[in-house]
Amino acid sequence: MTNFGPLFAPTTSLLDETRAVQQRLAAAETPSRDEASALVPRLRDVLHGHLRLYHQHDAPIVADAEYDALFHALVALETAHPALVTADSPTQRVGAAPLEAFEKAAHAAPLLSLGNAFGADDLRAWYDRLVRGLDGVEPVLDAELKMDGLAIALTYENGRLVRAATRGNGMVGEDVTRNVATIADVPLRLHGASVPRRMEVRGEVYMRKSAFDALNERLAREGAKTYANPRNAAAGSLRQLDPQVTKRRPLAFYAYALGPVDGSDVPASHAAAMTWLGTLGLPVNDRSRRCESLDDALDFAETWTAHRDDLDYEIDGCVFKVDEFGFQQTLGQVSNAPRWAIAYKFPAREATTRLLGIAVNVGRTGAIKPEASLEPVRIGGVTVSAATLHNADYIASRDLRIGDTVLVKRAGDVIPAVLHPILELRPEGTEPWAMPTACPACGTPLEREDGDAEWYCISAECPAQFIRLVEHFASRAAMDIDGLGEKLARQLVEEAGVARLYDLYDLPVERLEALERFGRKKAENLVAGLEASKARPLARLVFGLGIRHVGQTTAEALVARFASLAALMDASEEALVAADGVGAVVAQSVFDWSRREPNRHLVRELAARGLNTERLDGEAVAVASGIDGPLAGATVVLTGTLPTLARADAEAMIKRAGGKVAGSVSKKTTYVVAGEAAGSKLAKAQELGISVLDEAGLRNLLGGGDHAFG
Ligand code: IVH
Repeated sequence: MTNFGPLFAPTTSLLDETRAVQQRLAAAETPSRDEASALVPRLRDVLHGHLRLYHQHDAPIVADAEYDALFHALVALETAHPALVTADSPTQRVGAAPLEAFEKAAHAAPLLSLGNAFGADDLRAWYDRLVRGLDGVEPVLDAELKMDGLAIALTYENGRLVRAATRGNGMVGEDVTRNVATIADVPLRLHGASVPRRMEVRGEVYMRKSAFDALNERLAREGAKTYANPRNAAAGSLRQLDPQVTKRRPLAFYAYALGPVDGSDVPASHAAAMTWLGTLGLPVNDRSRRCESLDDALDFAETWTAHRDDLDYEIDGCVFKVDEFGFQQTLGQVSNAPRWAIAYKFPAREATTRLLGIAVNVGRTGAIKPEASLEPVRIGGVTVSAATLHNADYIASRDLRIGDTVLVKRAGDVIPAVLHPILELRPEGTEPWAMPTACPACGTPLEREDGDAEWYCISAECPAQFIRLVEHFASRAAMDIDGLGEKLARQLVEEAGVARLYDLYDLPVERLEALERFGRKKAENLVAGLEASKARPLARLVFGLGIRHVGQTTAEALVARFASLAALMDASEEALVAADGVGAVVAQSVFDWSRREPNRHLVRELAARGLNTERLDGEAVAVASGIDGPLAGATVVLTGTLPTLARADAEAMIKRAGGKVAGSVSKKTTYVVAGEAAGSKLAKAQELGISVLDEAGLRNLLGGGDHAFG
């Protein structure tokens, strides 16, 4: 039940005051200026009271229509007497009248910027400087996310928002009060017992990614210009002269620092100040962490470098701040940045470069994939010269043209993508791009189904598709044939006469040795790799066959149900659908594939060459274990490089054994698996007394069932 206890007295007085105001409004149809100036503040208080009950306690005490009538009375009074409008008026949430230009707003204390750290070494050097500056004391740090938006300074007088200003040059910004008042996260009034006479709060105005996508969709529908990223959208939305426009933009706000405060005791530390701001009704990000040591800070940075994409807002780094204000004072500042804080910047992920050409590739299922050829550009430490363009619709909707300067994004492990052209830089004489009408590899006319974004080459003989299939068959997650990547697949198909997958297993060393860029050693290695692949678990072979819609997990699900390739290929559609984790689309696809004679021939020939086509002991267990696997309920953190397992493989093994993989070490961690060059996570595990394993230890834990996972 809702607890009305502490609310009760104010609630009754709010209702009394509401009635009194309603009576006065009813009595005076057009109030005089004097009456209005007496009535407007009361009306505002009443409306704020109802807003609080409604939004924060879910317990309104007047009908919506009553609230609306009071609200409109306030609008009418403020319209008749504009001098009575204040920034904290509830009417400002709705958006005030447009401005000609923003007024300048001088800051009471400069809005500093932050020094940057690019990587662990920079952070360590900064921390060492802190310790020296504090005569050997190792200060506690507060770690925060660095929101990618724009800085804003809010001034509250007696708890009322009176001004919001952009950072500008740090000394003087622009007065954007009317616009900021439309942001629902920004309280127009503070509450609580400790509201100071005057205070400044600093924070970031930003836009959530989901809101950004929806905004861009709307703008595109309306034929308006879209924004390149959430930060631009936030900045562009906040700097609208018409607050009505800002109001329709989904802006959000987080407070991250306390500015000058008058008339109240200020907490002694940054963390305490943030807690205080929270109690006053200001939104603070709850992902901040207290760091007792530099290792904790490094751990925070490492975690968020890996997990930034899990958030619904963009962050471009972490901010570390010395917690104690006393220490902050001792450390002071250099030029325009404090010594006591630093921005740990993530590697940049976007860059502009020229679109030199558009190549079309044929995927193993026949889907045609356009790919951008780019003037090489460095992004996040990697040189990028190609990027995906997804499909023809993607190119057309952005009107990407060869010769354009384009924005390229490379995020984490994701394939680089071209985001959009920079139209201002488009050279003369460019042409819209057109998709070829025939397969670039075999000349078969391309087809696409209604509503499908992809064009397909539907030829079963298409050599390009076959090269892709060989590459896929040999890939790590499938048959894991060492050294057999895209280039070699092409060479084997084009020069060594490989026309069906089983031909791979008939290649004599002498034949390979004679190929260009081959030697005895390389030829022998490839043959050995092929030989070794014959013993792979069945699920890998099923995945490697390249059946449409059959990914790794689906292949495992199929093998959990069918003990041999023969059984799988003879299964009815009903039997396929009945398997756990297999849906109608997959069942149909597997069924159709299995009925085709060339595929049945392929499988017979593979088996004749000695490839394993039976479920291995333990293989089904590995697949089916999940909830009752050896790691059921365990949380495992991986750190450093393991001797033989790639990170993705280790993660997959842990998950298949029922475990969870986490990014950072905490009391909830069950095991830390540490390899070469393990860093702060290992230290943290030791500190918390968490079991640390090496790769062999992990394999032991999983029952030594090496073969079960390959
Ligand atoms: S503290 C003196 N904390 O980053 C300290 N800034 O590169 C001033 N920013 O202009 C800033 N998230 O707009 C701080 N948690 C955070 C932040 C943050 C984003 C922005 C801020 C500032 C810029 C400096």
